[in-house]
Amino acid sequence: MRKNSEIKYLFEPKSIAVIGASQNPEKIGYKIVQNIVSSQFRGNIYPINPKGGELLGNKIYSSILDVEDNIDLACIAVPAKYTFDVVKECGKKGVKYLAIITSGFSEVGNLEEEKKMVSYAKKNGMRILGPNIFGIYSSIAPVNATFGPGNIKRGNVAIITQSGALGIAMIGKTKFENIGLSAIVSVGNKSDLEEAELLEYLIDDKNTKVILMYIEGIKKGEKLVSILKQATKKKPIVVIKSGRSKRGAQAAASHTGSLAGADEIFSDIMKQCGVLRAESIEEALNWSKFLSNTPKPMGENAVIITNGGGIGVMAADASEKYGVNLYDDFEVLKNTFKDAVPDFGSTKNPVDLTGQAKISDYEIAINTALKNKEIHSIICLGCETAVINSESLKSTIKSIYKRSRSEKPIVFSFFGGQEIEDSINFLRRKGVPIFSDVYEAISCLGVLYISKRRLKDKVEQLKSINIDFKKINQIIKDVQKDNRTFLLSHEAQNLMQAANIQNPKSILARNLDEATKAAEEIGYPVVMKIVSKDIIHKSDAGGVALNLADKKELIDAYQAIIYNCKKYKPEAHIVGVEVSEMVKKGTEIIIGSRRDHTFGPIVMFGLGGIYVEIMKDVSFRAYPLNSHEARIMIKEIKSYPLLLGVRGEKKKDINSIVDTILKVGAVLYNFPDITDIEINPLVVYKERHGAKAVDVRILLYNKGDLDE
Ligand code: COA
Repeated sequence: MRKNSEIKYLFEPKSIAVIGASQNPEKIGYKIVQNIVSSQFRGNIYPINPKGGELLGNKIYSSILDVEDNIDLACIAVPAKYTFDVVKECGKKGVKYLAIITSGFSEVGNLEEEKKMVSYAKKNGMRILGPNIFGIYSSIAPVNATFGPGNIKRGNVAIITQSGALGIAMIGKTKFENIGLSAIVSVGNKSDLEEAELLEYLIDDKNTKVILMYIEGIKKGEKLVSILKQATKKKPIVVIKSGRSKRGAQAAASHTGSLAGADEIFSDIMKQCGVLRAESIEEALNWSKFLSNTPKPMGENAVIITNGGGIGVMAADASEKYGVNLYDDFEVLKNTFKDAVPDFGSTKNPVDLTGQAKISDYEIAINTALKNKEIHSIICLGCETAVINSESLKSTIKSIYKRSRSEKPIVFSFFGGQEIEDSINFLRRKGVPIFSDVYEAISCLGVLYISKRRLKDKVEQLKSINIDFKKINQIIKDVQKDNRTFLLSHEAQNLMQAANIQNPKSILARNLDEATKAAEEIGYPVVMKIVSKDIIHKSDAGGVALNLADKKELIDAYQAIIYNCKKYKPEAHIVGVEVSEMVKKGTEIIIGSRRDHTFGPIVMFGLGGIYVEIMKDVSFRAYPLNSHEARIMIKEIKSYPLLLGVRGEKKKDINSIVDTILKVGAVLYNFPDITDIEINPLVVYKERHGAKAVDVRILLYNKGDLDE
């Protein structure tokens, strides 16, 4: 397989063959050659078609084997039934990269043909982009090896798209919006090359300031997470992922031949990676344009300058939503803006110039804000009034933006009728970040701050987790020997101990005598639970007794449990009972870990009971994760304040939660036979008092599933 450093041959090829090059201008094979020629590609172009001849000044070769030059990239645009033969010829020729434009493979169920091509390519040292793509544009070469529009505007935004049609449309839209591209790559069926490999090139590409990805489904999620974490430390990455709704997910699945992961998990993992997830293409493009054109703010203080109270309040709400910090040193604000604001206005933040403000008044206020070092970014807003003249709006905002853009981030939002809308369109075309919707404007500033903060995120080394590998291995082996795919309660508790996760003291007792001895050893009150592989739902079977205060209660409960369970399932094989310490009350939380089909090992955290069951107030992360990431994951749930202590309660032991999340993740990660671990509840006590894993469920793979 090719080394990643060789991905440069895809973005910077020195020679390109177009197989299926046609003299018919209606055909895709013609369009690709035309685009390569008109993109001023400096390397060699080799159109290939058995008919021979000449195309746009280039000799057509009847076979790629006739070309004497080395070929870095071959674009293939012949019908699906001939494609594999062409791939084989490319193999013989020693081509490095194949961009297979042709449709008709896994996306329509023709998986076999696609697999054949990939495995042949792998064996012969070739990598495949696609199939089912519109091609690749790279500004560094420069080369437009697509059948989309020619004359792509150069710039700093790179796009990776799984949807070809949307990608082609984005070429047009970015041009219309005055967004320049450093690259646009169509990944189609992702039979071989995926986003992760392309990102490896783009994160170090000097021409690319922002990367925008349109994703439908992910195949190698673990690899993607690892590269995204590195990439966002260098440049912002914006993602739009379709398939949020169940309907959308179905459409995406049939479109790409790969299943989209659950949306909540995807969202949380993107946050973990520092990726900016946009809701729509419009939003993604707005963000990408802003991020690629705007300097990073020097600090967190933003100021709103407005001519209307209502829009100012909306902006304050939007700032909170997008994490933009409004500067609140009112003394400094007063001294800064006192000459720019009339007596009946406000120098507080929002700075209200009032409805009488002319564009020249805005100019004074913005210049003042630009000069003040305590102010790091500016939000300029306006509602249409009789004194706002659209001509001066256009010229003044354009010149303010030109001056300010290298100094401080600034966004604009103006709201009004036709003249205002026309001015906004005019200014946007000039590259000014101006919107009629104040939320759109502030979301741009919000993502700029997120990506700036991301650069400062701690790169904490993963701590080695102290778990007893040998003991856990033995527990798993014993369960497998017994032909089970689930651990009995005492086995799961033993595993917790081996993972150094605190749990209630508990002892397996095979008869009443052992049970009474166990209770004495543990100390009353105790809990007793049936142990039988045939009784999964212990409470339903009457197999659980809580809060047993003394020997008499224990004997009664033992007899009742055995009687109930035998009645519930006469054929059940009963091992005995588990006698455990009755744990003190605390805050119940749930921690889980499982193998996600897209992202591999993931961990989940939430508050127990109604918070998880009804409100689904949980957060997810991909494993491995460090304790800093685990802390953010804990803070993310809505019910987080409960852990900080409400109504006089003490703060809970969050360190213990972090520790348990990391250990549960580590166990699942290190033992591939485990599919699921769930602690529900983990009872958490006040700070420095720890937590106890009260109920633990651990599932294993069916051996048969693993062998598949
Ligand atoms: N080597 C070189 N050229 C070959 C060839 C071979 N082994 N076999 C056929 N050709 C030539 C054909 O003779 C033809 O040239 P001509 O116009 O001179 O006759 C050219 O390749 C194209 O073949 P043709 O049969 O005319 O196919 P087409 O151009 O109608 O369609 C595709 C080819 C690839 C465009 C089509 O099969 C396809 O997949 N279209 C969908 C593409 C798409 O949407 N991709 C995803 C975008 S997001």
